[in-house]
Amino acid sequence: MSVWAILVAAGRGERLGLDQPKAFAKLGADPLLAEPLRRLDESPWVDAIVVVAPAGWEEPAILLAEELGCGKVSACVAGGDSRADSVRAGLTEVPADAVAVLVHDAARPLVGDDVIERVLAPLAEGWDGVVPGLQVADTLKRVGGDGAVAETVARDGLWAVQTPQAFPADVLRRSLASGGDATDCAGSVEAAGGRVKVVPGDPRLLKVTTADDLAKIAAWL
Ligand code: CTP
Ligand code: MG
Repeated sequence: MSVWAILVAAGRGERLGLDQPKAFAKLGADPLLAEPLRRLDESPWVDAIVVVAPAGWEEPAILLAEELGCGKVSACVAGGDSRADSVRAGLTEVPADAVAVLVHDAARPLVGDDVIERVLAPLAEGWDGVVPGLQVADTLKRVGGDGAVAETVARDGLWAVQTPQAFPADVLRRSLASGGDATDCAGSVEAAGGRVKVVPGDPRLLKVTTADDLAKIAAWL
């Protein structure tokens, strides 16, 4: 089966607060984008890659892929205002005969073959999507604007969901075509009535949100 990866890197990185987009923040010596790009390119599970870059940053993204020798990169397109729009932009470059699509956040640099295999394998059982997740360990409370606890939320069955997320290509296309701005692709598939499975994620798939996250991940490299 042919697996196309869409690497979404088009966010502004407002919470990181640098003067360039998060994908081009330095992780060690290289831009953050380099790490997930190299890892997806080296994965035997991935046949081709579409990079979704911030508008105006397509050229630096293509140059980076060339420098790294990432031969699987098929296209680089500009993203949209929301993550869902960026995934839609990436999907336009995925050919009709692609079987599965793997959507991954560039902000989660430490993607590995083990988790890629875990999300792709159940697609053969007919799932509409497979996502990695970690069971929530902390006690959860809903808190009002004044800092007052409104309620303690039962933790049973709650998972924090990560990427890479795997979908049959036609399912993802149809789900995203119905619009909406779910914060992950599985949310769009669920909203369209799809059945999504959660498999074990990886704590090292931490998403870079703040400068502390960058430092933590740099130490794990
Ligand atoms: N993303 C994207 N297009 C958008 C928004 C987000 O491609 N319009 C991507 C980001 O580049 C990132 C992933 O989706 O790889 C997860 O988004 P997030 O961590 O929220 O990144 P940013 O939106 O860049 O950060 P912030 O919300 O702090 O601005
Ligand atoms: Mg964001």
